[in-house]
Amino acid sequence: MSVQLSLVGQTALVTGAATGIGRAIALKFAQAGARVVVNHLNQPQEAATLVQTIKHAGGQAVAISADVSDGEAVQRLVTEALHTVGDIHILVNNAGIIQEKPFLDTTEADWDRMLNTDLKSVFLMARAVLPGMVARGGGVVINLASDLGMLGRENYAPYCTAKAGVIGLSKSLAREFAPHGIRVNAIAPGPVNTAMVSLESMSAEWMEKELAIPQHRVAEPEEIAATALFLASDLSRFYCGQVLGPNGGSVMP
Ligand SMILES: NC(=O)c1ccc[n+]([C@@H]2O[C@H](COP(=O)([O-])OP(=O)(O)OC[C@H]3O[C@@H](n4cnc5c(N)ncnc54)[C@H](O)[C@@H]3O)[C@@H](O)[C@H]2O)c1
Repeated sequence: MSVQLSLVGQTALVTGAATGIGRAIALKFAQAGARVVVNHLNQPQEAATLVQTIKHAGGQAVAISADVSDGEAVQRLVTEALHTVGDIHILVNNAGIIQEKPFLDTTEADWDRMLNTDLKSVFLMARAVLPGMVARGGGVVINLASDLGMLGRENYAPYCTAKAGVIGLSKSLAREFAPHGIRVNAIAPGPVNTAMVSLESMSAEWMEKELAIPQHRVAEPEEIAATALFLASDLSRFYCGQVLGPNGGSVMP
């Protein structure tokens, strides 16, 4: 029996892939031989540069713009991906946003924006992509949660709620679709050096909290992409509904 990290012959769709962790996952998957659909929201330059980088290295990639919090946009994205690159074997729900705000200042609009982007998008993307996987009898879904979805954090209630929801949704989908040969798992990173939590823009208070973990550092996006590659590959074929934690020790279940 062969067990390997190769993704040759597979197509992966990564949401929010123009920057940060999504970009690192797209690059790593392409290096492993996958065709990659780089979804982005209003970042045509960054997405085009990533596609060019992958192509120059001999890989295959295409960029498709879509707001994954919008059901119609998600349908258009998946339809265009199927027409352009064919079946989607690996779905990575990575797109996300964060907002710092005291709970009592949080508006209904804040709540809806956070929950729609960070949680509803995972429902919409899974609902659009899973039928093809079911028809083929296999596939992989990887959802980006966060250690904050398990820990909670003052002034980040909508984000933490959405990420806890991503974990519940991942486990539910894992149970429902395992009989179809589909593996659904989540990644709950600790702090990662991206625009979302950039070392430059972090407040001293945030920095202090984020670094109060055993490894006392933030991760680079490639370290999270390595976990995604493992979950996408045949090496993790007995992983189902798991929440992997590249988090420097912030959570030890
Ligand atoms: N950086 C961290 O410390 C950290 C920690 C734990 C989890 N995460 C999660 O990792 C994922 C990636 O975050 P990142 O750190 O790379 O930040 P990032 O801001 O670099 O990447 C997020 C990407 O999602 C895209 N996006 C946002 N809303 C979108 C929408 N509606 N449709 C399509 N794309 C959209 C953004 O344009 C951006 O490219 C997020 O889900 C985030 O919550 C990040």
